[in-house]
Amino acid sequence: MAKTKTTFFCQNCGTQYAKWIGKCTACNEWNTIAEEIIQKEEKRAWKQSTSIKKTQKALKIVDIVLNDEDRITTKNNELDRVLGGGLVRGSITLLGGEPGIGKSTLLLQVALSIEKKVLYVSGEESQNQIKMRAERLESKNEDCLILTETKTQNIFKNIEEAQPDVLIIDSIQTLHTDFIDASPGSISQIRETTAELIKFAKETSTPVLLIGHITKDGHIAGPKILEHMVDVVLQFEGDRNHTYRILRAQKNRFGSTSELGIYEMQSIGLREVENPSEILISQKDESLSGTAISATLEGMRPLMIEVQALVSTAVYGTPQRSSTGYNIKRLNMLLAVLEKRAGFRLGAKDVFLNITGGIKVDDPAIDLAVVAAILSSNDDESIPQEFCFAAEVGLAGEIRPVNRVDRRILEAEKLGFTKIFVSKFNKISKKNYSIKIVLVSKIEDIYNNLFV
Ligand code: TYD
Ligand code: MG
Repeated sequence: MAKTKTTFFCQNCGTQYAKWIGKCTACNEWNTIAEEIIQKEEKRAWKQSTSIKKTQKALKIVDIVLNDEDRITTKNNELDRVLGGGLVRGSITLLGGEPGIGKSTLLLQVALSIEKKVLYVSGEESQNQIKMRAERLESKNEDCLILTETKTQNIFKNIEEAQPDVLIIDSIQTLHTDFIDASPGSISQIRETTAELIKFAKETSTPVLLIGHITKDGHIAGPKILEHMVDVVLQFEGDRNHTYRILRAQKNRFGSTSELGIYEMQSIGLREVENPSEILISQKDESLSGTAISATLEGMRPLMIEVQALVSTAVYGTPQRSSTGYNIKRLNMLLAVLEKRAGFRLGAKDVFLNITGGIKVDDPAIDLAVVAAILSSNDDESIPQEFCFAAEVGLAGEIRPVNRVDRRILEAEKLGFTKIFVSKFNKISKKNYSIKIVLVSKIEDIYNNLFV
């Protein structure tokens, strides 16, 4: 019998060591090195070996022909957009997210709505449990096969029989291959099973969707190299207490990473939210002070987002500043600008800021709405609900232009806003907007326009 070979892996970052040590020299974590048995064998689970196939010849880039068939639509518009127009043949997509966020639900829904033959492999739930879940979801796909299996060799046997067009694996951490003797979820198993699936995907041009667990600090569990190996990394996030979820691309070899998909979790599964502004803006009867709406862009998609601020006299000596969904450093900067450049006395006030809907915004165009919300709360005067803002605020207190302002104005107009505040320096196309565009260049302009 061949001698069993073992190696030591850091369970945190995947670095390989020849012997055990207490602290990983790569990621500096203590006690993360574990011994894993590896049995080196030449043959792999997916048999169609490269030696049989003709070796690829180099081609001129102009001679490579693309056909439309290279993308498969998932019939799920939000997912298609985040993917950049559908699943690319032969691609590997990794979907990560916290437990209970809805990863299995999303991919089962895709399996049931896509008009292709799908094999859904679950290592976490039994066929009955999946059937029960499928009963709650509305869509039906006669050609959806469910398999409960964790051994890649058996999965490939099923694939050879069923010949699916799309393969879904729930989850990569439950898989194991015969060629490695480590337990499922260990670094070497994850790396090896993913490598087998990638080989299968590339050789058969079948798109593979993988579900991945995440660690407590939000990274996908397993070796870091996993994210390099796959073509697309999607992150499914959102507050579990909120009913909606956001799907983002962290990496996409075939599209932009700035697109965003929004879903609402209902009792019949995930509903695609086509007009996200409707849920991001709170419904209220009267205008309240301290709220302002910003016309932001997430990728190419306009989003109207509500900013809420609460400014009150500090109870303790040091005023508190807290922010949810918006960079706290940027909030402090804006407060300093308000104090120094516009003369508002906020130094002794507590300031709390919240972006509703539990989402995080990086778009600098939200600055003006943050400033407006703070001023509104400070004066206890409300801003009419039909007003919105889209501009960046600079250190000199100047209101700076933002990109694609026409897109933002159009969206605000479509949703029934009557006034939008933008920078004077923004080039706006000379279209006949029914929405009133207010051009501002200083914080005082905003203040005078709203509260005087
Ligand atoms: P699930 O897809 O199992 O999460 P994950 O695979 O990411 O761990 O989602 C589970 C949650 O979704 C669970 O809390 C119940 C909820 N849910 C609904 O609200 N409606 C539904 O139709 C389904 C199927 C699940
Ligand atoms: Mg699951």
